[in-house]
Amino acid sequence: MRRMIIAGNWKMHTDIEEARKLTLGVVEKVGGKTEPAVILCPPYPMLPAVKDIIEGTTVQLGAQNVHSEDKGAFTGEISTDMLQSVGCNFAIIGHSERRAIFKETDEFINKKVLKVNSSLMIPILCIGETLGEREEGLTFQRVEQQIKDGLNEVVVTTGNDIVIAYEPVWAIGTGKTATPEQAEEVHAYIRELLGEIYTPEIAQDITIQYGGSVKPSNASELLGQPNIDGALVGGASLKAEDFCGIIEAGS
Ligand code: PGA
Repeated sequence: MRRMIIAGNWKMHTDIEEARKLTLGVVEKVGGKTEPAVILCPPYPMLPAVKDIIEGTTVQLGAQNVHSEDKGAFTGEISTDMLQSVGCNFAIIGHSERRAIFKETDEFINKKVLKVNSSLMIPILCIGETLGEREEGLTFQRVEQQIKDGLNEVVVTTGNDIVIAYEPVWAIGTGKTATPEQAEEVHAYIRELLGEIYTPEIAQDITIQYGGSVKPSNASELLGQPNIDGALVGGASLKAEDFCGIIEAGS
């Protein structure tokens, strides 16, 4: 069964008090919901505090990034073991900001996906074309390359082993959302690719989230598309009311 998953990517926002307040706001409204699944991805220092508040609820914890090595001299980096020890079930990998600002390559992203895939956590692999690529008609080519490189040698035996987030870069934080038709077209293509890499049955069960300026007012239409199985939410996840509005739209 394919799961609907709404994840909040807080990016580099919130201090400890704001993180607690935001988590409480989410838990009060949707802490008992099982459908859709809800994941909070706060900055690293907030993970234990958020974990304390979501304990005993259905809300789950995710990290915004992870390193591909287990331990060692990698100043500033965080391993899967560390994340698991504070209760993370998911890790976002290859977000377009990591790719663009921190120059993460498909090869490095693949190493991270392999590492998370071999842990008890589930990777959320982010892919998506830039505005220039879309304008040049390269959307499908770019998405195909990111999927194939990101999932190189990644063993997936059930649809629950991995989550894909399609986030057109031109729609992130810009207020410009892909139309439901534009998004659905790419999501259907991604599922076809996953079917070729794994099996059509497994591909049917893989959650493919949409991300890019998702808000309560556009969530229903996006989430109503046959191949859109959730949302990776940035800006709107920083307000409990807006985030929960998106969760309601996915219910
Ligand atoms: P946004 O961010 O919702 O603010 O556009 C989405 C994301 O970066 O995951």
